[in-house]
Amino acid sequence: MQIFKLSISVALFYLCVLIGCQSNTKQTETHSDMTTNQTQKVTIEKAPFGTLPSGQPVEIFTLRNQNGMEVKITNYGGIITHLSVPDKNGNAADVTLGFDSLAGYLNGHPYFGAIVGRYGNRIAKGQFSIDGKLYKLATNNGPNHLHGGEYGFDKRLWRAETTEGENTATLSLYRVSLDGEEGYPGELHAQVEYTLNNTNELRMYYAARTNKPTHVNLTNHAYFNLSGDARNTILDHELHINASQFIPIDVTLIPTGEIASLDDSPLDFRTAKAIGRDIDVENQQLKYAGGFDHCWVLDKDPDNPKPQLAATAYDPSTGRVLEVLTTEPGVQFYSGNFLDGTVVGKNKTTYQQRSGFCLESEHFPDSPNQPNFPSTLLLPVETYRTTTVYRFSVR
Ligand code: GLA
Repeated sequence: MQIFKLSISVALFYLCVLIGCQSNTKQTETHSDMTTNQTQKVTIEKAPFGTLPSGQPVEIFTLRNQNGMEVKITNYGGIITHLSVPDKNGNAADVTLGFDSLAGYLNGHPYFGAIVGRYGNRIAKGQFSIDGKLYKLATNNGPNHLHGGEYGFDKRLWRAETTEGENTATLSLYRVSLDGEEGYPGELHAQVEYTLNNTNELRMYYAARTNKPTHVNLTNHAYFNLSGDARNTILDHELHINASQFIPIDVTLIPTGEIASLDDSPLDFRTAKAIGRDIDVENQQLKYAGGFDHCWVLDKDPDNPKPQLAATAYDPSTGRVLEVLTTEPGVQFYSGNFLDGTVVGKNKTTYQQRSGFCLESEHFPDSPNQPNFPSTLLLPVETYRTTTVYRFSVR
């Protein structure tokens, strides 16, 4: 009897195939099969993004998941140009500052979304010594060296490779920084992987190898405005930083060498508070930086090698939450103090002071000259490896 039923079904199936009919059940099945596959898939697409003055073509990659998140990254400077995430009502908007086209990035900008290297943040007087030999770097920020120099990793074209996994898509960027580039010793082979998953995490994995001892401190310099509209300031965003100490700076924003407690300090974000709450209080550190522009020393479990929570930013108006997790010992929280309305970015938005903030995971500024800070020296026998995650959600 069962064999009979089966033969009828098989016969009906072939008849259907022959006459091209499709039962509703079959349609639904096919559709739901596709949906099941698609819900897992994170995609990555490549498109042209213009050409450099040298004639080299630049590409832009769109990573898209099944949870409403889309990230665009160009292989010029490894710049995150767009990062779109849903708010509490499910409406997606771009929460990063930047430009609509390559031209904006070529005209000079304050490191919007870029990979910063070889050394994120400042090195005092643009110099350090390794094994008694003095190395001189560009002094591109007053008397100091900032973010890798005149022509840092943010202004270089990276070789790109893409991979699509079941639940992730990865853009891998590679470049060789030659021995002596921007004054740094050693040929450095650098790799940055951007991986998007289906739970709205963008993971950045940095790796590097050198053939001579050198200093390395790579980070990403994305500016966020979680409201999705950078005409608003970020002063209402509530911020928590998982740190009970920070690195005090001098008038040129170079660490004094001290690691100071945040007890009774306006820079204390252990209890979440609006960025704007204490930004204008009378305080020498805030005065030097024109707001927040310091490195927070993260409270970490030293036995946990995984990325640990550094900071959480929350925009009450949209419910968007950004958590930054990192394997790095510090995070530079920069409240967009130097944005001054001279840069016109995406959708003709003029970026005013405090229209974006950065949470740059890093080793401490000026570590090459600060013997009591964790070392940034990379030896030829070692591999530099760090991971930072931007994790988005809503409240
Ligand atoms: C970092 C620095 C700031 C500033 C910005 C870029 O956050 O600490 O002082 O240089 O980058 O404008």
